[in-house]
Amino acid sequence: MTSHSTPTGIFITGTDTEIGKTVVAGGLAAAFKAAGVNVGVMKPIASGGIEHKGRIVSEDAIFLKNAAQVDDALDLINPICLRHPLAPSVAAEIEGASIDLRQIDDVFAQLCQRHEFMVVEGVGGIAVPIRDDALVANMAQRFQLPLIVVARPNLGTINHTVLTVEFARSYNLEICGIVLNASQEGSKGLAEETNPKELERLAHLPILGTVLFDERLQGNTPDPDFLSQFIGNHIDWKGLVGAND
Ligand SMILES: Nc1ncnc2c1ncn2[C@@H]1O[C@H](COP(=O)(O)OP(=O)(O)O)[C@@H](O)[C@H]1O
Ligand SMILES: [Mg+2]
Repeated sequence: MTSHSTPTGIFITGTDTEIGKTVVAGGLAAAFKAAGVNVGVMKPIASGGIEHKGRIVSEDAIFLKNAAQVDDALDLINPICLRHPLAPSVAAEIEGASIDLRQIDDVFAQLCQRHEFMVVEGVGGIAVPIRDDALVANMAQRFQLPLIVVARPNLGTINHTVLTVEFARSYNLEICGIVLNASQEGSKGLAEETNPKELERLAHLPILGTVLFDERLQGNTPDPDFLSQFIGNHIDWKGLVGAND
């Protein structure tokens, strides 16, 4: 049992960018919310933000806010948003921005006071640099939340997933499982069929679920009810709520 002040939640990372972190994070948040959990969402650092009403905002943050149906301001959900679609360390240098990890800690603490369970989405993969002196793995350590690794289901995923899991473990990050997500349309073959078992064996982690490709998951504001049902039915999430108690 952890102390009362220890935040409860999950940190969603992935084997790549565009792998489905936002869809899985939003889907889990929607499923928790539908189950009556006061869930909050956070995208601490985003890059490739879009111009909206004269400022740069993160589409991931908009997706997560809509999925979890929270009132929190976008600035809280996503305190740092960079314009260039690059690794944050590189985008920040080009834009003359500084990435203050204590600012992220402060915002996370505020969100933890408002919500009983936090779903936090990383940026890129676990080894992506966010500053000259820090990777996503270093940022993940500060949240003290167990990780979910989102990976693709097809050929090549064993290598990417094992590398991600072993890298995370080298930073003493706890991982609760893997979600396989098909962010691209494709036919299901022998690799998709056999990968889950082989991944469990090599990564020593459970496959929490497989999310199929579905066009309704595209776009910034999918219906939260659909998200919660679709993701909720494909991921074994019930053990995750209170997972680090
Ligand atoms: N299961 C899925 N079915 C259909 N489209 C998906 C699925 N998962 C992700 N996508 C789409 O793929 C793209 C990348 O997904 P996203 O969750 O944004 O990845 P990440 O957060 O890892 O960069 C988005 O356009 C998203 O709508
Ligand atoms: Mg994302």
